[in-house]
Amino acid sequence: MNMKIKSTKFIKGLVGYDTILADGIPQIAFIGRSNVGKSSLINILTSSSISRTSSFPGRTQEINIFLINNSFYVVDLPGYGFARTSGLGREKIGELIDSYLFNSLYGQKKVVLIIDANIGMTEKDLLMFRELENHQKDFIIVANKIDKMTQSEYHNKMNEIKKMVKGYTVIPFSTKKKDGLEDLIDQIFS
Ligand code: GTP
Ligand code: MG
Repeated sequence: MNMKIKSTKFIKGLVGYDTILADGIPQIAFIGRSNVGKSSLINILTSSSISRTSSFPGRTQEINIFLINNSFYVVDLPGYGFARTSGLGREKIGELIDSYLFNSLYGQKKVVLIIDANIGMTEKDLLMFRELENHQKDFIIVANKIDKMTQSEYHNKMNEIKKMVKGYTVIPFSTKKKDGLEDLIDQIFS
């Protein structure tokens, strides 16, 4: 499948509830540990550089809402699991993520849980995974940064990850090489 990007627009950054979330436009949310590549992936997906990326974890500190093709929102969430020294603290970020994903009436069309393929599912990733499962979210898992692995590491890690998330779709991905992009688009819009 091909997704033609006709327009991308930053709408706003949220630090709490906002009526925009209840306006009926479908939301596709991206969640994962800090520095895992959420913003990079959003840029690849939307053939743009709408989301700011950084080599330092903790770059995204708000819930950033982007409107794509005037038809759906891409929701870039702050990363979890990073002890911040400036800006919002880890707890506040955690609350922000939880209230958006789990304590509201509005839902997401799809949630994309991004993990680092090299590291695999960390304890924090597993917690998020179980919460998404418990709340019956429609979600998929993206294993990013596969360009950093050898073939054998890749096979071992992917098997390990798939075992841990039995039944859920795992897409091997590299924002560097754009591996997995078509698969991701198919999954998001299916
Ligand atoms: P926060 O906003 O801090 O939560 O981070 P994020 O998840 O949005 O990560 P971001 O997209 O800013 O990327 C973090 C770092 O990982 C940057 O240095 C990226 O260049 C790098 N990165 C992202 N995707 C890949 C990938 O597929 N391969 C490699 N090798 N590096 C990547
Ligand atoms: Mg980010």
